[in-house]
Amino acid sequence: MVDDADNAKKRIDELSKLIQHYDDAYYNDNQSEIDDASYDALRQELQALEQKYPALKQADSASDKVGVSPHKAFSKVTHLRPMLSLDNAFTEGELAEFMRKMQDFLKLSRDEFMPLLAELKIDGLSAAIHYKNGKLDYALTRGDGETGEDITANIKTIKVIPHQLSGNAPKYLEIRGEIFFEKQDFAKLNQSLADDGKKQFSTARNAASGSLRQLDASITASRVLKCFAYTIGEVSDDFSTKDGEDILQKLQSFGLPVNPYRKLCDSMPTLLAFYDEVAAKRDSLPYEIDGMVYKLNDLALRERLGVVARYPRWAIAHKFPAIKKITTLNAITIQVGRTGSLTPVAELEPVFINGVKIQRASLHNDDEIKRKDIRVGDRVEIQRAGDVIPQITRSIDAENRAQNPNEKNMRAEFMFPQNCPECGTKTVRVQDEAAIRCPNWQCPAQQLEAMKHLVSREAFNIDGLGEQQLKLFIEQGFLTSLADIFRLYQHRDKILSLEGFQEKSVNNLMQSIDTTKNNVSLDKFIYALGIRHIGTITAKDLGFAYSTIENLQHAWHNLDEDAHQQFIINIEGCSYKVLEAIQDFMGKQASLFDDLCAVLNIKPLIRTNDGAFAGKKILFTGTLEKLSRSEAKVIAEKAGASIVSGVSAKLDYLVVGANPGSKLTKAQALNITILSEQEFIDAIN
Ligand code: IVH
Repeated sequence: MVDDADNAKKRIDELSKLIQHYDDAYYNDNQSEIDDASYDALRQELQALEQKYPALKQADSASDKVGVSPHKAFSKVTHLRPMLSLDNAFTEGELAEFMRKMQDFLKLSRDEFMPLLAELKIDGLSAAIHYKNGKLDYALTRGDGETGEDITANIKTIKVIPHQLSGNAPKYLEIRGEIFFEKQDFAKLNQSLADDGKKQFSTARNAASGSLRQLDASITASRVLKCFAYTIGEVSDDFSTKDGEDILQKLQSFGLPVNPYRKLCDSMPTLLAFYDEVAAKRDSLPYEIDGMVYKLNDLALRERLGVVARYPRWAIAHKFPAIKKITTLNAITIQVGRTGSLTPVAELEPVFINGVKIQRASLHNDDEIKRKDIRVGDRVEIQRAGDVIPQITRSIDAENRAQNPNEKNMRAEFMFPQNCPECGTKTVRVQDEAAIRCPNWQCPAQQLEAMKHLVSREAFNIDGLGEQQLKLFIEQGFLTSLADIFRLYQHRDKILSLEGFQEKSVNNLMQSIDTTKNNVSLDKFIYALGIRHIGTITAKDLGFAYSTIENLQHAWHNLDEDAHQQFIINIEGCSYKVLEAIQDFMGKQASLFDDLCAVLNIKPLIRTNDGAFAGKKILFTGTLEKLSRSEAKVIAEKAGASIVSGVSAKLDYLVVGANPGSKLTKAQALNITILSEQEFIDAIN
């Protein structure tokens, strides 16, 4: 893990690109190039860096995303409760930090260990299965966490999943569990695929994913999938439970498959001993696992701790360490990103780690290549951290070179291209940045990336418009700017005449573009512009601050005025960097911006909330006695407040704890309502 801001910036860039790359691979061809664990490790590293350096968080940060978009052919259904993901810990230190954060949030002392339920982290695919009056009603994949794919027919073919619950099952019960192949059954499946001359699956996880997402459920039925239920989702009032362990016991009593191999741990040493025990048995277990999951056993505490980003604060995945392999670096290619940064990518002699074929890895930037003295032709060590993201850890040959500097046959150093490989423009290196950029914002590679971003799930989520289609439409001259996407209907007939497009798919595409066009929320619009440093969260902050597209348009066209600049800087979550990025964007793309505004129907963004502090600005100061700062903020936000960082005339309430300091004096001078911690709690209640 890198440790200073400069390196962090580089690493965040690298990680973002890698994650984007894997998302694309997964989304476009349903074949993950990376296993879940390695992928998680990349995201975990990114998240840790973003937490440490919030200002460096990128516009399109992958840490705001979970999972992949639903497959187009399955109908999409919204989860009754979001399906969360898990934060990862790789070391005992990170685990201790997880514990400390919970203690801090709950204002408990350091020596109060809260019992944790340790489960095995099965490397499969999560599913939500809904039972109504004990009868299997419907089942969904996780999808993006909010919306999943309807896989009811497929789930019903899995023998270990009951169609009818037994025992004292509640009226409504949603269970969440992992669908997977046992190692033996996976080997058998691959054997029979090979016998039929068909393509084999690279991992048991991919096989489970491929089998479950079969449009023809009879194929799913022919494969022996298994399931372990690990928690509940939506549930009716007639279900009462004591704690996490009790939930699992109850699920089992309803006839659901639950993994018996788990342990309720009441101390850190017990927990770590269980981790070691399972790690030692990993190879001999009948199924693949990629780590452990620790969950707070106490349900009331889970409730209080709640969720941060897409992770519960009360659970964590403890991953197994990385596996390393050596292979040859065949070539270094250059990828041009949305904002013009040039990323070197290692093209590797394919090698398998844990059954996953690895043939590419990001080299991040030129500095990284120089620092590790990586040269084409070198034997390099690669690893998938926590089994997931492939990285080049070192060059074996670089070490030989360092020891024998006069050695003949020295390989040539990699020369980073002086010109953009896509448009030929001379590249620039911005001061304080590791990235080398193509300054031509009309560079075809940047245009394509910008379009991919605009149609992506977190932005406009336009179905049927992936990289392939975009490339084709650009080639055909239908798309020359982002706004042209919303004028594609003009080329409807020509699209129909292209190979691979039928009436139905073209209608669907036109329909989804049209739906988007008429129903864009302001925050999605801001995010979709693809401005640097504006991720989904910052886009929301900006959206709420401007509220309407008219306000935003007026302000952004007058960014030379101090008041408009100050406005942005004062928005929670924004900074000079965001302001500069917007200025840069408007400097180059003002006409595109206006074109988009004109072609879209952009809905205002207004905080509608009936909470006790709806629409109010709150600031906390001094030491709170009953609540930690974090919990107080979460509670206030739930009650509709936005938390601000400084005292100004716009502040509605200042909540004061012990030893408040200057903020109190300032707020009193401005006649702002002062609340004690108790008054704040009473108001909430
Ligand atoms: S708990 C809020 N328990 O790991 C709790 N997840 O990286 C969310 N997984 O999406 C998950 N075994 O697909 C949980 N015993 C277990 C698990 C488990 C495997 C998967 C699950 C989840 C992913 C998170």
